[in-house]
Amino acid sequence: MRPQALIIDDEPDILDLLLMTLETMGVDCRTAENIAQAHKALQEQVFDICLTDMRLPDGDGIDLVKIMQRDYPQTPVAMITAHGSMELAVEALKAGAFDFVSKPLKLKVLRDLVETAIRLSKKTDNSLTEQTVADKKLLGETAAIRDVKNKIAKLARSQAPVYISGESGTGKELVARLIHEQSARSEAAFIPVNCGAIPADLVESEFFGHKKGSFTGAIADKEGLFQAANKGTLFLDEIADLPLAIQVKLLRAIQEKAVRPVGGNEEIAVDVRILCATHNNLAEKVRQGQFREDLYYRVNVIELNVPPLRERKEDIAILAKHIIDQMAERHQREIPSISDDALTVLSQHSFPGNVRELENVLERAMTWMEGDEITADDLVLTETTVASEGSATMEESKIPPSAINLGGQLEDQERLLITQALESTRWNKTAAAKKLGITFRALRYKLKKLNLE
Ligand SMILES: Nc1ncnc2c1ncn2[C@@H]1O[C@H](COP(=O)(O)OP(=O)(O)OP(=O)(O)O)[C@@H](O)[C@H]1O
Ligand SMILES: [Mg+2]
Repeated sequence: MRPQALIIDDEPDILDLLLMTLETMGVDCRTAENIAQAHKALQEQVFDICLTDMRLPDGDGIDLVKIMQRDYPQTPVAMITAHGSMELAVEALKAGAFDFVSKPLKLKVLRDLVETAIRLSKKTDNSLTEQTVADKKLLGETAAIRDVKNKIAKLARSQAPVYISGESGTGKELVARLIHEQSARSEAAFIPVNCGAIPADLVESEFFGHKKGSFTGAIADKEGLFQAANKGTLFLDEIADLPLAIQVKLLRAIQEKAVRPVGGNEEIAVDVRILCATHNNLAEKVRQGQFREDLYYRVNVIELNVPPLRERKEDIAILAKHIIDQMAERHQREIPSISDDALTVLSQHSFPGNVRELENVLERAMTWMEGDEITADDLVLTETTVASEGSATMEESKIPPSAINLGGQLEDQERLLITQALESTRWNKTAAAKKLGITFRALRYKLKKLNLE
């Protein structure tokens, strides 16, 4: 059956343009001039997409979006907004609109939008299996993680930019990937970019591409990450690290749905969904003047918070077993079991480094363990584990404001780790040395040096 569209607009010119464009795409259209007529149409048949103007004679387009969210959640609604009224577009997305297109209508943008909506409604048919795929990848049964899974399913049906917040190691990138995989964009690329890792002077060309000869070293035309993510999803990780100069250009690209390569004269239309994350507090960065407020409102249309592991401790056992399975498979060895004692110890730990810390702790345990069971003794849990991974907790660690005595700090850390290793092995030096990954002799030397004997 041909896809069905409902178009709600009272301007004849716009209606004509929309009708013509959609008809050439093989879409059957029904039109309505106001909300009342739209209601009637919605009661009579099912639509694959609904396009509505912002202002209608008998009400607001946003109200229609809300009604559709409630009564016809399977039908994506896109909002037609006046030129430059980004606030209204954002408001529509927040209310649950699938996407927006601004006037004057760019036909390419309109076509991309309609295509995505139609793919989405086809995808809905086998969404049940997709759901289980996500269930398998994002583990956990607590209310906190089930809530995240529900939100992923919802957000996968929208084109709205999502800001994924959460501490280091909570699973932000995994969540971004799952939003993409469950979305109508899953056939195209998911491109994760670590914004902090690109040198400042290369960001523009990395993002938008460049023309041959536009700067020294530009020996050929190069396409940027936006073009590479066309029809797919661009995940801007650590977005807070983007230099201010590039933030303006990013904002433009998002608003215009087009990019201009460095040294190029023409804009290239791109159809990209933006997801972003940072373990920094983005709102705080705005207050400090390090992140543009207008960009903040554009990328943070919807915030999805991934809760820290300590707020979903009941999931630790499930996660631990899954991680152990994976590592055993990766290293092609028997899957060890994990003792109840060990699970109890894990459930009492605060995990400042979250799931990634749990992975690290278990990986180390699997290296050191003897026999085929991970016991409490095999676990080295320290509040400093996370610091070695260079995460938020390290930045916030207690570096004295005056002078830093690095030698002293390191000694303290060493002392702490050694004491913990010794305590967990009941002062068995051979076992402790093994845990610490150093020789028995080296441990003896350090104990002397640190006055720990
Ligand atoms: N609920 C979960 N189920 C299974 N694996 C998970 C879950 N949450 C996180 N992980 C795993 O934990 C690791 C860390 O996750 P991820 O890289 O997504 O975190 P992050 O929030 O992006 O961290 P960072 O802030 O350090 O970039 C990954 O290997 C990921 O697969
Ligand atoms: Mg990450």
